[in-house]
Amino acid sequence: MSHTAPAFDQSVTLAFTGASGAPYGLRLLQQLVAANCQVLVLFSDAAKIVLATEVDLELPESIDEIQDFLTARFNAKPEQIKLHGKLDWFSAPASGSSAPKKMVICPCSMGTLSSIRHGASNNLIERAADVILKERGQLIIAWRESPLSTIHLENMLGLSQMGVTLMPLAPGFYHQPKDINDLIDFMVARVLDHLKIEQSLVLPWMK
Ligand SMILES: Cc1cc2nc3c(=O)[nH]c(=O)nc-3n(C[C@H](O)[C@H](O)[C@H](O)COP(=O)(O)O)c2cc1C
Repeated sequence: MSHTAPAFDQSVTLAFTGASGAPYGLRLLQQLVAANCQVLVLFSDAAKIVLATEVDLELPESIDEIQDFLTARFNAKPEQIKLHGKLDWFSAPASGSSAPKKMVICPCSMGTLSSIRHGASNNLIERAADVILKERGQLIIAWRESPLSTIHLENMLGLSQMGVTLMPLAPGFYHQPKDINDLIDFMVARVLDHLKIEQSLVLPWMK
């Protein structure tokens, strides 16, 4: 019997929501592609507005067009970047039997964080996160808001108690960043470290 080697080392779901910080998510996507991951990409409606506002990136209208656009932009292999619409309940991330075991939401809004905390599952991002939780997979929420209300803090505590990794999009300065890309890479490196994906963006502080 002949065995074909899998095309990708692993699959990760990456969701963009409407918090500030779109450049972090784009850099993370680029790094996941470079690390030969298959990436299932989800955008909330607000994420598209933030992308246009923060990086002048107007995504095309249709799911197929967005997929082609990102594949070309990140020089991905065919099928490496897969886009799913917000109500695509038949997609892999929506089902425990087919979802990747790892999911990152970057950037994550307080709205989506709250919905996940309460199990709303009203769109594919919330459902995908719900699936990760019920299947005991790895969920990383790279969130951004300031200041935090008691509601935000309570939601984060609840998620943390369920095993979710909550990473504030708040880069350190001890690696002496020279420009904005160094700040972005600081955070993306931390996310990749938690995913156990080798990265050379930022080396460990101490050996
Ligand atoms: C430019 C821009 C920046 C925003 N920044 C944040 C933010 O940093 N954190 C946050 O929780 N919401 C932020 N919002 C508000 C969210 O986009 C809004 O609450 C939205 O309903 C979130 O929906 P989503 O979670 O489905 O993406 C921002 C909105 C815009 C347009």
